[in-house]
Amino acid sequence: MSRQDTQGAAEAPWTARVLTVFPEMFPGPLGESLAGRALARGDWRLTVHDIRDAAEPPHRRVDDAPFGGGPGMVMRPSVADRAIRLVEGLEAGRHTLPLIYLTPRGRPLDQTMVAELAAGEGVILLCGRYEGVDERVLEAHGAIEVSLGDFVLSGGEPAALCLIDAVVRLLPGVMGNQTSAGEESFANGLLEYPHYTRPAEWTGSDGIPRRVPDVLLSGHHAEVGAWRLSEAETTTRIRRPDLWARYMRSQADAMTTPNPAPARRPAPQPAQHSDVAHRGKEPAEAPRSKDRQTA
Ligand SMILES: C[S@@+](CC[C@H](N)C(=O)[O-])C[C@H]1O[C@@H](n2cnc3c(N)ncnc32)[C@H](O)[C@@H]1O
Repeated sequence: MSRQDTQGAAEAPWTARVLTVFPEMFPGPLGESLAGRALARGDWRLTVHDIRDAAEPPHRRVDDAPFGGGPGMVMRPSVADRAIRLVEGLEAGRHTLPLIYLTPRGRPLDQTMVAELAAGEGVILLCGRYEGVDERVLEAHGAIEVSLGDFVLSGGEPAALCLIDAVVRLLPGVMGNQTSAGEESFANGLLEYPHYTRPAEWTGSDGIPRRVPDVLLSGHHAEVGAWRLSEAETTTRIRRPDLWARYMRSQADAMTTPNPAPARRPAPQPAQHSDVAHRGKEPAEAPRSKDRQTA
C-alpha cells in the first residue's frame, strides 16, 4: 500500500535502509508474521546495504585499532562515511531520511520515538560492530543515537530489527483489526491491563484453580473498561514508577487545562522529541549504490 502525497500521486512506502556488515541477518524475523506479510504486500520497504562494499579493495578493511589503546576495534570513519553517503544517494529527490546509529550510548527507544518514526518517510539505520563507530563520522552526518536499552549487544543488527518491527506495526493497514495500537502499553502512558481467554476457570501445574475476573464475563462494556484502566494503573504504579509519575503529571495537567479531558481517562503521552522522523536536509549529492531490496 503506497501513501498519497498532496497532489494525489503515490508516495514511496515507509522505507528502512539498513547499513550492516552482516546483511544476511535481514529480513530475518521481519520476513515473518505481521511485518513479513506487510513487506510482501509493499506496505513498507527494506533495503540492506553491506558496509564492506564501501571499503577499499583488496582487503576491504572496515575496522582499525582505537587511538589511545584498549581492547577491540573501531569502524573506520572513511568506510562508514562512504557507506552512509551511498545510501543517502538513494534518497535523491526527497528529503534525506533520518540517520540513526544504534548504540547503548543513545537515547533509549520508546513508543513516542517509534510513533514519530512511523509518521515519517523512513529511516537509515547504521548498525555498529566491534567497539563502535568512529565518533567523527556520527558528528559529520548528524546521526541520531538510539539505544535499545541498558545492556550491550554484540552488534546493532538485533536493535535495528526491533526498531523496525516496532515501527512497521504502527504503519497504516499493517495491524488491521487484530489489535488497536491506541490500547497497547505506552500508548496512553500506562502499561497494559492483563489478558485472559477461555476457559473461564483453569488449573495450572501448581494445582491451584484460577478464575477469570468476573467483570470480564459480565458483558458490561463500561465496567470492563473501568476495570482495565484500574488494572493498567495499578500495574504501572507498581512496576514502573517512572511511567507512573509521568502519567500522574499528565492527568494533573489535563485537569487544569481550559478544556480538560474527562478525569481518569488515559491521556496521550506528550511527544518529547520531534527530531527523529525528519532530518530536514536536502539530499546530498552522492553516487548511487547497489539498492538491494529485500521483499
Ligand atoms: C559490542 S557493542 C559496542 C559497545 C560499546 N563499546 C559500548 O560500551 O557502548 C557493538 C555494537 O552493538 C550495538 N549495540 C550494542 N548494544 C546496543 C544497545 N543497547 N542498543 C543499540 N545498539 C547496541 C552498537 O551498534 C555497537 O556499536
